[in-house]
Amino acid sequence: MPNTSPTILIVDDEPSMRELLERVFRRTGYRVMVAENGERALDAIRGTVFDVVLSDVRMPRLTGTELLAECRQVSPETMVILMTAHGSVEQAREAFKLGADDFIQKPFDIDEIKLVVQNALERSELRKEVAILRRELNDRGKLENIIGRSRPMREVFQLIQTIAATGSTVLITGESGVGKELVARAIHACSPRAENPFISINCGAFTETLLESELFGYMKGAFTGAGANKKGLFEASHGGTIFLDEIGEMSLSMQVKLLRVLQERSIRRVGGTEEIPVDSRVVAATNRDLSRMVDDGTFRKDLYFRVNVIPINVPPLRERREDIRELANHFLVKYGAMRPIPLTGISEEALKYLENYDFPGNVRELENLIERAAALEPTSEIRPERLPESILKYDPTKIASAFDLPDHGINLENFLTEIEKSYILQALRRTRGNQTKAAELLGMSVRSLRHLLDKHKIRQTASVFRETTLEE
Ligand SMILES: Nc1ncnc2c1ncn2[C@@H]1O[C@H](COP(=O)(O)OP(=O)(O)OP(=O)(O)O)[C@@H](O)[C@H]1O
Ligand SMILES: [Mg+2]
Repeated sequence: MPNTSPTILIVDDEPSMRELLERVFRRTGYRVMVAENGERALDAIRGTVFDVVLSDVRMPRLTGTELLAECRQVSPETMVILMTAHGSVEQAREAFKLGADDFIQKPFDIDEIKLVVQNALERSELRKEVAILRRELNDRGKLENIIGRSRPMREVFQLIQTIAATGSTVLITGESGVGKELVARAIHACSPRAENPFISINCGAFTETLLESELFGYMKGAFTGAGANKKGLFEASHGGTIFLDEIGEMSLSMQVKLLRVLQERSIRRVGGTEEIPVDSRVVAATNRDLSRMVDDGTFRKDLYFRVNVIPINVPPLRERREDIRELANHFLVKYGAMRPIPLTGISEEALKYLENYDFPGNVRELENLIERAAALEPTSEIRPERLPESILKYDPTKIASAFDLPDHGINLENFLTEIEKSYILQALRRTRGNQTKAAELLGMSVRSLRHLLDKHKIRQTASVFRETTLEE
């Protein structure tokens, strides 16, 4: 039930009925208005938004069904319940066909009509919630939500608008945290498919067999645990968009299966024989260099060409520093809302530090940083003290000089291996051995991290890292 008392309009040409219903619903806590015919009711609807209209069907001048049709036009969110004469199945059927939310036959008893109205109200609340949710989902994809006025970002926006309607496969590239997923959502939201599902799957997060059954679905008995037929994500995204995130993490044999789908535009469920046509627009993303993977033989060339029809590169934040100010303010609004003292902005000094920093974690790193600063800042403006040490001490020139080649030279390979190993251990320590979070800190996929753990023979037991953290 809604917080404020619900409003109801009672429409009946019979005075005794109007009076009875008015009394009943007033006593139940409703705000009640009455009208003695359809025309009067229509005037009321034009002036007030009702939660429920409870109307007789047979009335002189404007009938209940005509009122219903008008009400749908004027106030589509209002629930309309029609009261039909006893035994008139035909009228009831007609009412539903015209879109009545419910009907009740006369004569009825009081409890019955109270229940019918209450049910309608509950459904209307639910409907509103769904509408709000749907609006939020759509909003997340809107171009306006992607901040950035730098030239490279304007080019990205331009490209999104140009290609959204085409249905062609898109490959979004860019470092971790630059906003690839946001771009993928925007492509969907700007396309004629916007009303259909946008389904996102992280290809790096599944084993091969799991990924296959996620994407293509399966038939009952296809493997142990396949207790019933199940639709895969390709089928679920039919008419919409499927977002294959981290496509570079797909195994070679999975790549073959995906290539087949892109060529045939149909899928076969695991354990099934039927070819099921699918019409899903494919948008893929990766932070790896796929063309180099093609050269290395870890990514199929034919799949690369199939996926890379329209390439969109989202540049790293350090190559569009002019976006930093706007992004920071955007996140400030997002995270400042919960604070007791409102945040008015970021001090110019703090902004200088941000604009100087290289943001290896890109926009995501900036977002996390502002979230933290907004939580810690006691004044109304974010000052440099709220920024992490690493940024305050950041000096790009110093970093460069640390890599000056010494006069006696170095063993580059050993040096790089040591750096790699040291960073991995630090990341694992800081995340208490959480590989997913450690991989994020290092700007790589979990799969790549695991590969490096093997390479450096780092045997990871969670307790080791926990103990190490405790010692520190
Ligand atoms: N231009 C932007 N405007 C507003 N928010 C942004 C922008 N770019 C990125 N973000 C935010 O930064 C975070 C990271 O973005 P997103 O998940 O799209 O990055 P990604 O490129 O997919 O990263 P990864 O490769 O790690 O998956 C999200 O919270 C996103 O909302
Ligand atoms: Mg992503």
